[in-house]
Amino acid sequence: MNKLYLWGIIFTAFMLLLTYLSVGGSEGGLNGDIVNMLAVTGAIALVVITVFVVIKYVRQMQVDSASGELAQDNWDGIGEYLNEVPTGWAVMFFLLIVWGMWYFTIGYPLNAYSQIGEYNEDVAVHNAKFETQYKDIKGEKLVEMGESVFLAECKVCHGINADGIDGKAANLNKRIEAVAIKHAIANGANNMKTDFPGGMPPMMLSDPAQIDAVVGYITSGFPEGHKGAEAFAMGGCTGCHGEKGEGMPFVGPKLNGFDVATVASILKDGKKGAIGTMPKFEKLNDKQKEAVGAYITSLSK
Ligand code: HEC
Ligand code: HEC
Repeated sequence: MNKLYLWGIIFTAFMLLLTYLSVGGSEGGLNGDIVNMLAVTGAIALVVITVFVVIKYVRQMQVDSASGELAQDNWDGIGEYLNEVPTGWAVMFFLLIVWGMWYFTIGYPLNAYSQIGEYNEDVAVHNAKFETQYKDIKGEKLVEMGESVFLAECKVCHGINADGIDGKAANLNKRIEAVAIKHAIANGANNMKTDFPGGMPPMMLSDPAQIDAVVGYITSGFPEGHKGAEAFAMGGCTGCHGEKGEGMPFVGPKLNGFDVATVASILKDGKKGAIGTMPKFEKLNDKQKEAVGAYITSLSK
């Protein structure tokens, strides 16, 4: 018998002995547990098969000799036989090329699993369900729903009473404060890009007295005969915001109070202004935006 086989048998016996010592017989070992038995049987089979397959190929390398026609080229005396390409291999090779082209151009791009995609689909389904379920909700109920959205999403910055926590965020109990108006006049603004793509140009007014008058006019709620009305018209503000700050679709937002559309517009794009930055809230669905808009509108009434 070849020495290799002898070594193979000794090695296998040694491995089996190790297996027996570590799990066999001892307490807490196999204990007749079927899963453990299967695992150990599998391990033994693996050891035996591996050892003898390896030996078979080592033997083959030792004794095999090849014959056939050699290719013309040789590399330092090492030649290569002119073997036919195996048909199965050639077929696989070409099929793989075809499959590879399909996979890179169509297969992967169109069929790839996307976790984000799955999340978005689930959210869309949920939102559709949510919106049908609460389609008819309005009035008091809508405001209540808005309050709970507010308490969940907005109170961290705007405070439980929506007063902006000492200037940390905007005070939502009134439409707008003097600093924010001055900031908009001086710097212009283009946050609400979705609904007001044109934005507002800066420095329509530069005379401090006129600016103060306009600020007073807006913060006091556009009263009849206010001295700021004239400067508001003169500065071109009426052209975009309307005579009494009622706003114009696509041109300028409502300034004389909150309504659902104004709040929804701010939630769509977020807002960067005199106080700081407010993130956009894409995760709220349309009904939730409407509800929180109704809630904020109700605060200043
Ligand atoms: C060309 C149109 C246009 C003109 C003219 C204009 N605005 Fe605006 N205004 C806008 C738009 C658009 C916005 C929304 C800005 C945004 O997208 O953030 C806005 C926003 C505002 C805001 C709200 C800012 C905020 O923080 O919520 C105030 C206050 C304001 N404008 C005051 C004025 C005053 C005062 C004038 C006149 C001096 C004026 N606007 C002239 C288009 C205009
Ligand atoms: C991370 C803090 C933060 C959160 C959360 C937040 N906001 Fe704001 N919000 C701000 C800040 C800061 C401003 C002021 C931006 C500025 O004009 O400088 C603001 C401004 C606003 C304004 C504009 C007020 C005005 O007169 O121009 C509205 C409306 C508003 N927030 C509504 C909401 C709603 C509704 C939520 C919850 C869905 C919310 N915010 C959540 C920080 C926040």
